[in-house]
Amino acid sequence: MGRMKPKNANAHFITGTGTDIGKTWLVCALLRYWREQGGVPCAYKPVLSGFVAENPAASDAGQLLATLGRGLTMPDVNAIAPWRFTAPLSPGMAAAAEGRSIDFAALVAFTRQVAGDCPSSVLIEGVGGVMAPLDHRHTVRDWIAAAKLPCVLVAGSYLGSLSHTLSALEALRKVDAGVTAIVVNETPESTVSLAATAESLRHHVGKVPVIVLARANVAAGIAELAGLLSSR
Ligand SMILES: Nc1ncnc2c1ncn2[C@@H]1O[C@H](COP(=O)(O)OP(=O)(O)OP(=O)(O)O)[C@@H](O)[C@H]1O
Ligand SMILES: [Mg+2]
Repeated sequence: MGRMKPKNANAHFITGTGTDIGKTWLVCALLRYWREQGGVPCAYKPVLSGFVAENPAASDAGQLLATLGRGLTMPDVNAIAPWRFTAPLSPGMAAAAEGRSIDFAALVAFTRQVAGDCPSSVLIEGVGGVMAPLDHRHTVRDWIAAAKLPCVLVAGSYLGSLSHTLSALEALRKVDAGVTAIVVNETPESTVSLAATAESLRHHVGKVPVIVLARANVAAGIAELAGLLSSR
């Protein structure tokens, strides 16, 4: 599968080594960074599981909308997160629990469309980790590859994260997905040094930039990442 330039060179897919690793947190931090500079970024969470209709504000879509300074009406939620499921499960399992399935071609078309339509920087948050199944045939990495968007891989710094991060990178490379950066989002109370984790990774990732996101100084990591995302 060849790498095609997207219509919008400032479009990125935000994926991670797994669920709860900090994808939404990172998207919101980047949105705030760009908005503080007068930018008008866009953000999407096309597939959302564990969605509680009575409390949309708590969902990833709610967090993105609040950070974008937008409303939280159902049309707003629909616009950025059209595939929503109630069960807090992997997307394929959550869809199946409702007797539904995710139309992969429609998901890819939606992603390409919104990435191309945003006049400024646009971030598409994935769901779960790189290899989370969307259905019986596709995982998140297939979505990234089919949408032909470069991605940012969010990882942690816990003991065991090195193997998780390098495995995720290999999975992305197998489908020729472009990886703009790996972000090592510091795991609180990790027994492992953050800097040493990043340094160890750098020896195994070729030319992919490894960005350190230290909890004590997130601003530095966010600024470095923002620079990488817009200088492509
Ligand atoms: N660098 C950080 N600083 C402070 N809090 C963080 C940071 N990274 C993640 N968190 C917190 O960790 C929790 C999990 O992060 P987040 O919701 O962004 O994960 P996710 O990868 O988007 O998960 P999901 O798979 O559900 O989409 C959240 O409460 C978030 O606010
Ligand atoms: Mg999230």
